[in-house]
Amino acid sequence: MSSFESSRKVFSSLDTFDATAWNSSFTSEDRERAVDGLERGHVLYFKTLAFPLEAEEKVFLSSTWSDQEAKNISFDPTEGRLRGAKIEGADGEKLAGMMRRYASDARQLLQGLLPSYASTLKLARTSFRPHEVEGRKASSFRKDDTRLHVDAFPSRPNRGARILRVFTNIHPAGKPRVWQIGEPFEAYASRFLPTVSRPLPGLAQLESILGITKGVRTPYDHIMLHLHDRTKGDETYQREAPRQEVAFAAGSTWVVFTDQVLHAAISGQFVLEQTFELPVAAQRQTERSPLRVLERLTGRALAA
Ligand code: SIN
Ligand code: FE
Repeated sequence: MSSFESSRKVFSSLDTFDATAWNSSFTSEDRERAVDGLERGHVLYFKTLAFPLEAEEKVFLSSTWSDQEAKNISFDPTEGRLRGAKIEGADGEKLAGMMRRYASDARQLLQGLLPSYASTLKLARTSFRPHEVEGRKASSFRKDDTRLHVDAFPSRPNRGARILRVFTNIHPAGKPRVWQIGEPFEAYASRFLPTVSRPLPGLAQLESILGITKGVRTPYDHIMLHLHDRTKGDETYQREAPRQEVAFAAGSTWVVFTDQVLHAAISGQFVLEQTFELPVAAQRQTERSPLRVLERLTGRALAA
């Protein structure tokens, strides 16, 4: 990577909100700030919005419930099933119940905060991240979230839909979740797009038929996945790219489009996360979505 001069300037990326309850009603000014900030690629930060565990849920604040292979324990609300956990019977029910409650709180928060998204927002997986991030060895560089990246799902093409995530730090002893946040999406995409070659004709259809992907990967999915992998694999970029470090306090919540905001998790333990999918058309300013930015940069339709 030759130079980072053009993006050395400090970028401000946190917009803070005072809410303390998941069912808060927000002023129209706050709602305006939220949609505008999110779509610009800011992180919405709720410093005092905690997710208190019930007394009987505190046993889950341990990494022993993980199957030790998966990064996260995840819960699929449509299947009602836990993945990545080594847990059975009543304990499994209890953990699923905690994750369901988090999903419902996260949804309530977004309904109050982002009413223009609410009708098309789709609830996807819930995850519980019980491992200390710092020093944990990833099984491959592609799975290493301590490296800057934007999110892309390898087996679940989303055809341009946005990935909106709500995170809550539930560390019981006050340890912050430390992230690095990188340069704005368009500058980043312009830098890495030349490294992404076109997909092989027919490959997306074949992978879908073979069940490698759930549905056919669009050119958009191809580019996002390659951007993700190229970025994580670029040692110079990882070392030298501009970034800002932020510490999300224990007992805080943050909301971010992780398909747009370059991020890396550096340290911390015990986070809950809820993923939502949002159609590009639901955005206030669709031209800020990664799909439209990439279409502009490549001069092609990428998710038709
Ligand atoms: C990530 O989404 O890359 C990891 C974020 C986290 O677990 O804090
Ligand atoms: Fe990520």
